[in-house]
Amino acid sequence: MSKKELDINQIIKISDLNIWLNSSHVLKDIYLSFKEKMITGIIGPSGGGKTTLLRSINRINDTTPGFKIKGSILFEGKDIYSSTIILHQLRQRIGMIFQKPCVLPRSIYENVIFGIKMTKRKKKKVLKMIAEEKLMDANLWDEVKDRLSHSAIGLSLGQQQRLCIARALAVEPKVILMDEPTSSLDPISSLAIEDMILKLKERYTVIVVTHNINQAYKISDYVVFISDGRVIENGIKEEFFNNPRDDATQRYICCSSNDYWRKKGLT
Ligand SMILES: Nc1ncnc2c1ncn2[C@@H]1O[C@H](COP(=O)(O)OP(=O)(O)OP(=O)(O)O)[C@@H](O)[C@H]1O
Ligand SMILES: [Mg+2]
Repeated sequence: MSKKELDINQIIKISDLNIWLNSSHVLKDIYLSFKEKMITGIIGPSGGGKTTLLRSINRINDTTPGFKIKGSILFEGKDIYSSTIILHQLRQRIGMIFQKPCVLPRSIYENVIFGIKMTKRKKKKVLKMIAEEKLMDANLWDEVKDRLSHSAIGLSLGQQQRLCIARALAVEPKVILMDEPTSSLDPISSLAIEDMILKLKERYTVIVVTHNINQAYKISDYVVFISDGRVIENGIKEEFFNNPRDDATQRYICCSSNDYWRKKGLT
């Protein structure tokens, strides 16, 4: 992929972003662009500001006490912090998946269509079709097609996380933010989610925070390394991992994934 290709179709553009939570200056002078229909992996040490960055992209931080923001976040060219933005519409366009799956105590089917029912009137037949399609997109259909009326609480954690993804997809977002979506899952369930994320980029822009360097390498097109509230380094996946420019990036990648670097003969 050429650099020129990466410069086009920037769906989200962040400029001079600074965020404070209470007296803490959590994000500092962030400039970042996210490309349409690509997967961006965000990595970095704990407490560096990854979650705060994701949450600022669909304005979940707004209600955090002491939240203050400077700079801009443009989504499709519009400032998402402008007073004309309607929050629930923004969050439909930019969905979010959290570390722990949060299913509703309702049936599997009701979970998928929950967001659509809140916003649009659709016929039952159409809702059923949407539920099937989104469960397929989330790689969950085959496992639940015979028990759509059963409670979602009975699903495994990995299945619940995929159900949350189906629910987010059902309202037709453009961007999906994922904050460590596999950190509470076993390796097999994680694999199912990684494979699904790779499929999603045909239609969606995905931004994933992960502590798993092998996962970042496997699924990302573009990688951002954040530490102590700053973007230390970002770049196309292959360049980022093969030639990290910054010492801190290099140290972080090496200590997070010795196996990977040993295989490459770089340690
Ligand atoms: N409500 C708050 N008030 C003050 N500081 C906060 C608040 N929430 C988070 N922080 C601080 O902001 C910094 C960034 O936190 P954040 O959760 O964004 O980091 P992170 O990179 O996602 O970490 P992790 O990898 O552990 O999830 C941390 O130092 C954290 O203590
Ligand atoms: Mg976090």
